[in-house]
Amino acid sequence: MVLKEALDSESNSESISLRIPLCDLVHRGYEITIGSSNLNSVGLIISRFNSCSRIVILTDSNVQRYGYSSVVESSLVNAGFDVHVEIIEAGERSKSIESAIKLWSNFLSLGIDRSSILVSVGGGVVGDLGGFIAATYARGIRFFQIPTTLLAQVDSSVGGKVGIDLPQAKNMVGCFYQPLGVLIDSASLKTLPDIEYICGLGEVAKYAVSLDTELFNVLEKNAEKIKLRDSELLKYIVKRCCEIKSQIVSEDEFEKTGKRILLNYGHTFAHSLEIVSDFKLFHGLAVAIGSIYAARLAERMGMVDKEFVERQIKLYKSIGLPAELPEELLVTINYDEIINLMTHDKKSESGNLRFVLPTQVGQCRVVKDIDPKIIKQVLCENN
Ligand SMILES: NC(=O)c1ccc[n+]([C@@H]2O[C@H](COP(=O)([O-])OP(=O)(O)OC[C@H]3O[C@@H](n4cnc5c(N)ncnc54)[C@H](O)[C@@H]3O)[C@@H](O)[C@H]2O)c1
Ligand SMILES: [Zn+2]
Repeated sequence: MVLKEALDSESNSESISLRIPLCDLVHRGYEITIGSSNLNSVGLIISRFNSCSRIVILTDSNVQRYGYSSVVESSLVNAGFDVHVEIIEAGERSKSIESAIKLWSNFLSLGIDRSSILVSVGGGVVGDLGGFIAATYARGIRFFQIPTTLLAQVDSSVGGKVGIDLPQAKNMVGCFYQPLGVLIDSASLKTLPDIEYICGLGEVAKYAVSLDTELFNVLEKNAEKIKLRDSELLKYIVKRCCEIKSQIVSEDEFEKTGKRILLNYGHTFAHSLEIVSDFKLFHGLAVAIGSIYAARLAERMGMVDKEFVERQIKLYKSIGLPAELPEELLVTINYDEIINLMTHDKKSESGNLRFVLPTQVGQCRVVKDIDPKIIKQVLCENN
């Protein structure tokens, strides 16, 4: 039986594995398999990668509680692997050097070596930390990603960025390290807390508005299904987002040519909003609000018209995304601080403000050297 048929017969009947090639990275391309209730196919997929007997599953306390790591474990054990499970506390604080030291030490005690594979099962925290451990332990072991949050499925599991946080700054230590492959189960999104789901939609909407007209139209027409977390629709949405990101990453794997910046619609505003809110405003929500500010900025620069901004706002509201800052932030916000933070964002080029701005639905470009006075007007006028 060929692998594709075997995968289809192993997973639930409604599950169709969509197999898309990622990046044409020479010799390092890999596959993202997207289905519904398909986690039990992981044993078969990993069997393709030769000479591995030991596998470490890295997951977090919530994901383990929902049973996703157990399904993955059973599938791997049934496929003949010797499996060990490492569980970290759920939450961003686990993306730390302390977790890394603990995991490196445990790996050593377990006799994990370069023939072993690390399988991350969880959100972006587990994926980023797992990838970082895999990239660094024994100068690199292979790793496989099973993202279980919408944000991880459409964003963090694609592109090869792995790392940990410093107490002073997120994602400050890490590297680019591509996985062997990615397995995505859209049905796993059913158990996501609402806020995490909405945050993932913030990134989905970002892709649609700035890079993909077709995705934008699908989101516009399917607001109800999106709210219901329809697995079939989510498979399509996740596939589209992975295709868009992988296309851009394959053209700029190491963030050198400037192409990868196009993935950052709304993010210049978002990063500063997250900081001024002391990270009470979640990333995905900050991206949504930041994208609306970016659209208004584009309108002010004459790049899009008022209708464009209104259409974006309407879409955001229809799928449950915020289009403006929450009341409690509005009363305390300091616009000069936001502009100051934007100028010093690690992604700004030597202090020059740089924005990804839309030119029409599904298209955008990078605009530099915008007068901070204009940005302040955009921030103030709309609040
Ligand atoms: N590497 C990249 O390119 C990249 C891109 C974007 C974000 N990130 C990173 O990703 C992280 C955020 O990822 P995230 O939003 O997935 O956060 P997360 O990993 O903390 O997951 C969010 C919460 O959802 C829980 N969870 C996960 N899957 C679940 C499921 N199926 N059902 C119920 N609960 C579930 C988790 O336990 C956690 O409590 C940040 O650290 C960010 O820096 C990385
Ligand atoms: Zn983001």
